[in-house]
Amino acid sequence: MEQQRMMQTEILCCTTEEEIKKAATSAAEQLLAGQVVAIPTETVYGLAADATNEAAVKEIFRVKGRPQDNPLIVHISDLSMLPLVTTAQSEDALRLFEAFWPGPLTVILPRADSIPAAVSAGLDTVAVRFPAHFVAQQVIACCNKPLAAPSANRSGIPSPTTAQHVMDDLSGRIPLILDGGSCSVGVESTVITLCTENPRILRPGFVTKEQLEEVLGKPVEVDEACLKASTAGQAVSSPGMKYKHYAPKTALTLVQGSLDDYISYAKANGFTAAFCFEEEVSALSDAGFTCVAYGRAGDDVSQAASLFDALRRLDELGVSSAVGRMPSKDGVGLAVTNRLIRAAAFRVVDAKTGASLSETSTEQPV
Ligand code: TXA
Ligand code: MG
Repeated sequence: MEQQRMMQTEILCCTTEEEIKKAATSAAEQLLAGQVVAIPTETVYGLAADATNEAAVKEIFRVKGRPQDNPLIVHISDLSMLPLVTTAQSEDALRLFEAFWPGPLTVILPRADSIPAAVSAGLDTVAVRFPAHFVAQQVIACCNKPLAAPSANRSGIPSPTTAQHVMDDLSGRIPLILDGGSCSVGVESTVITLCTENPRILRPGFVTKEQLEEVLGKPVEVDEACLKASTAGQAVSSPGMKYKHYAPKTALTLVQGSLDDYISYAKANGFTAAFCFEEEVSALSDAGFTCVAYGRAGDDVSQAASLFDALRRLDELGVSSAVGRMPSKDGVGLAVTNRLIRAAAFRVVDAKTGASLSETSTEQPV
């Protein structure tokens, strides 16, 4: 087993401007010394390291237990940092920056030499994002360097949306967590690549396909891996998509259908725990289920904001299995669906027939 150096993990509160200034200075000291530090962003908490320091970047992979071939996102706090990260700024890229930055959009571009290959798992592309969170911006600005940062969870489990989630996962493994409260978006950034023939979404997020198409003035493809399981040995455009992701300990089965059919399915199959919408808690409790809600029915933004916290609360029930309500795939719902079907290990069934609805990608290895 890997020998882990245990350390005291400090949490610094980032509420007032003075606190943020002090915390950003402490974080920058650690980061410039090659350490990894957890910072809040508007999407999820990130585990940051100096993106230009190869040893520090490797430390991210070690602390998270992240597979070496899953590349990281590089975060900037000013457009003037872009030439350090990428060699190309196409018309399309400039349109996206103008419309969505700072914000929850990551753009894949050709990688500049100042970013070590380890950041991109050896790819000649790089993922770049300019987060909207003030604390994240202050930390990057204080370092005056781009920061590589994946979500600050142990690899494979739900992403953290509070400092406490990070503490639960990484206490004793990192020196510092900046506490900026709950993340407002709640799911990770949309990842779009401009390095394919047509712009293509590799991971759905808060910025939707429709919004991207409007700004780019052309169709945007959605990678098959966003909603389908990949088959063994298959090459995927976004390496992260092939790994076990967002998995709670509770075995979750998602059920597509009306609330009545869902209840019938759940009872017939012996489920006692429901992962549902807020408005349904009272009816489901009356029907004998223990409930955890992830946002409001038909409200994709509220579902995104509470999804990861709800998955962690589901585990706190201590039940071995639960039955989940399917969200809509519209708008931000595509991101919620993408995360939830992975959390459920692609177990999706039809409420009426019990038939499996999970799909496998037919994409050929490239
Ligand atoms: O909202 C977010 O994006 C958060 C916060 C902390 O910024 N970060 C995050 O990072 O979600 P991570 O490492 O958990 O997810 C990065 C995703 C992975 O699916 C990875 O495969 C993909 O981006 N990715 C990174 N670089 C890539 C590249 N060069 N080509 C294709 N996919 C890439
Ligand atoms: Mg992640």
